[in-house]
Amino acid sequence: MKEKLEALLSAAVAELAAVKSEDALQELRVKYLGKKGEITSVMKGLGSLSPEERPLVGQVVNTVKAQLEEALEKRSVEVREAAKAERLASERVDVTLPGRRRAVGSKHPITLVTEEIVSIFAGLGFGVAEGPEVEHDFYNFEALNFPKDHPARDMQDTFFVGENVLLRTHTSPVQVRTMLKQPPPVRIIAPGTVYRCDSDATHSPMFHQVEGLMVDKGISFGDLKGILTLFISQLFGEGVGVRLRPSFFPFTEPSAEVDIACVICKGKGCRVCKNTGWLEILGAGMVDPEVYRHVGYDAETYSGFAFGMGIERIAMLKYGIADMRLLFENDLRFLKQF
Ligand code: DAH
Repeated sequence: MKEKLEALLSAAVAELAAVKSEDALQELRVKYLGKKGEITSVMKGLGSLSPEERPLVGQVVNTVKAQLEEALEKRSVEVREAAKAERLASERVDVTLPGRRRAVGSKHPITLVTEEIVSIFAGLGFGVAEGPEVEHDFYNFEALNFPKDHPARDMQDTFFVGENVLLRTHTSPVQVRTMLKQPPPVRIIAPGTVYRCDSDATHSPMFHQVEGLMVDKGISFGDLKGILTLFISQLFGEGVGVRLRPSFFPFTEPSAEVDIACVICKGKGCRVCKNTGWLEILGAGMVDPEVYRHVGYDAETYSGFAFGMGIERIAMLKYGIADMRLLFENDLRFLKQF
């Protein structure tokens, strides 16, 4: 019986070496140690042994069982370790693989030009002011000395939202809002989006403007000319020709249009400047006393100037963009160039 038990043990240990899973291990355990297992059935034969033999063989049974249990436990640890190693290998992540880079964007030319204009005027002590794009007739027209039914309103094809509510046609209403909020002195620029019912290669129903306003004691037309000439030389380069032509705006008196020497042909005459050698870039003038009356400023004590320009036009001239629509299509091949 002793030999039989030892033979079973070595058979079990040999089989154990080939076992590769927990399930197979469990089967093996049942096969030898289960209720109907091979070692168990040998033990059932103990009863037929003589009383002298019984304790001796009983001891062998216990040793064999203990050895098999130990071998099973050892193999079980090995099988679990192997399974873990296999899982780690299959789930391995190569952390040295470089990630997919996001394409880096660039600032839109309108943003670039706006930032440049803001920074030039910041250097001259101008702060930035803002106002709403959906505006009251009062700020957009009335307080800027465009009375109702005044023909000057036709200069700007307005999108109306309600009876006295509209999409602002220019950034000039920010002048009015700023003066109503604070007493003089004032030195602000107001960049922003404006709307007009107009659309072709040089006009878009939505575009951008920068408004400027400076009010204090003793501000003259000479200050207007000096500041704008300095601004133009910083934006377009030192020595660019500047000229002022008399013009009309309801909210300034006198008013002027400011031209620069054509940046394409340097004043010789080309298609862009329509052979005049000059490009109009902004409107300006001394703030009309009628505007001061609407905001409660004393026109006897204070004077000042205002100006306004279209940012798309400046960007087109600065970067040599022929069609304004390129600035709104947002084709990445175009935008990447800035
Ligand atoms: N608001 C005018 C426009 O959109 C531009 C302008 C002209 C603004 C003269 C001014 C100014 O402040 O003084 O056409």
